[in-house]
Amino acid sequence: MDALAEFRAAFPAVAGRCYLNTAGGSPLSTAAHDAVRAFLEQQLTGGDIHWPAWTAQVESVRRSVADFVNASPDEIAFLTSASLASNTVAQLCAQSPGHTILYRREFPSTSLPWLQRRMPITWLEPEPDGDVSIDAILAAIRSDTRYIVISHVQYLTGFRIDLEALCAETSHRRLRLIVDATQSLGAETIDLSELAIDALWAGGYKYLGAGYGIAPLFVRQSWLEAANLPAVGWRSLADPSSMVSDRLELSCTASALELGHPPFSGTFALGGALEVINAAGIDQISSHVERLSDYLRDRASAEGISVQSARSGPARSWLVFLEAPVPNTPAQLLERGIFVGDAPDAVRVSVHAYNTHADIDCLVSALKELKT
Ligand SMILES: Cc1ncc(COP(=O)(O)O)c(C=O)c1O
Repeated sequence: MDALAEFRAAFPAVAGRCYLNTAGGSPLSTAAHDAVRAFLEQQLTGGDIHWPAWTAQVESVRRSVADFVNASPDEIAFLTSASLASNTVAQLCAQSPGHTILYRREFPSTSLPWLQRRMPITWLEPEPDGDVSIDAILAAIRSDTRYIVISHVQYLTGFRIDLEALCAETSHRRLRLIVDATQSLGAETIDLSELAIDALWAGGYKYLGAGYGIAPLFVRQSWLEAANLPAVGWRSLADPSSMVSDRLELSCTASALELGHPPFSGTFALGGALEVINAAGIDQISSHVERLSDYLRDRASAEGISVQSARSGPARSWLVFLEAPVPNTPAQLLERGIFVGDAPDAVRVSVHAYNTHADIDCLVSALKELKT
């Protein structure tokens, strides 16, 4: 079996159906499932006897995540949702409030935390094709701009911002670039040693395939060292085993942001999920999703089904929006064994490395049938 066939075989839920809704939520792989099951089994049969092994396993997953994005383990925290991660970062920002650039149609959890902390905001308006151009971001930067917050891939349009190009324009400025990679981490290589990004997070249940209850968060070491922790608990101590309770002897590594016990289940699922991704190779996954989503755009256009997201260039991604030929198209497709996401007047088709050309052919024929 080649690496992509093995990747597909790792996800039992995709057998016998066209699972084209990773942007909503990916199924679990067997490896992620087994890791959580082993943890539950240990709790059932041995309880906290396993605590030292669990904490060691968390640190091992932390190293895997750090390697995956080319960061230091000290820069990785495990939180339970992307929304909690974005709020944690917004709370760090609130220590030095300042002008913030946000996209008007951003995923709510990626803009509301800055709004709620009363940051002065410039909104980037959606351009006609759903783009957020780097030129528009640059035009919004003022001498007092402190933060740019943006999703790598927009959930509502599939628009992908070119992080390399954005960093090239912003790295020399005195501002922090903050990225929500929920719709991209696991589908594309993100090398944080090359990108001047100060904080980045991703929900675990989409392209990472780690299920619910886990969101890795990266915060650059220099920021952690300069900031006060936004909240503290026993695991924020420099030495958590010291149990110091009358002095702030705090750590400045990202794990301090976890506050209390780490989210064991989700973290172990993430460990299993990364093994599956690494076995296939992120470069191979990334080329496959690019190729397959190009194939989808071409096939849909050839059949007269209008493609509403970017058709070419770096703005296109693995989230493809197609016209919905009839009301309730996703429900009608589901009856045919095809799972896609719903969007206003459109269907959101999101491909991952477990999808095949046959999935796309099946979807396009079904859409054509519904259209006539
Ligand atoms: C870009 C983006 N960020 C965050 C989230 C929400 O993540 P969570 O439920 O982990 O807070 C989503 C969910 O669709 C998303 O698309």
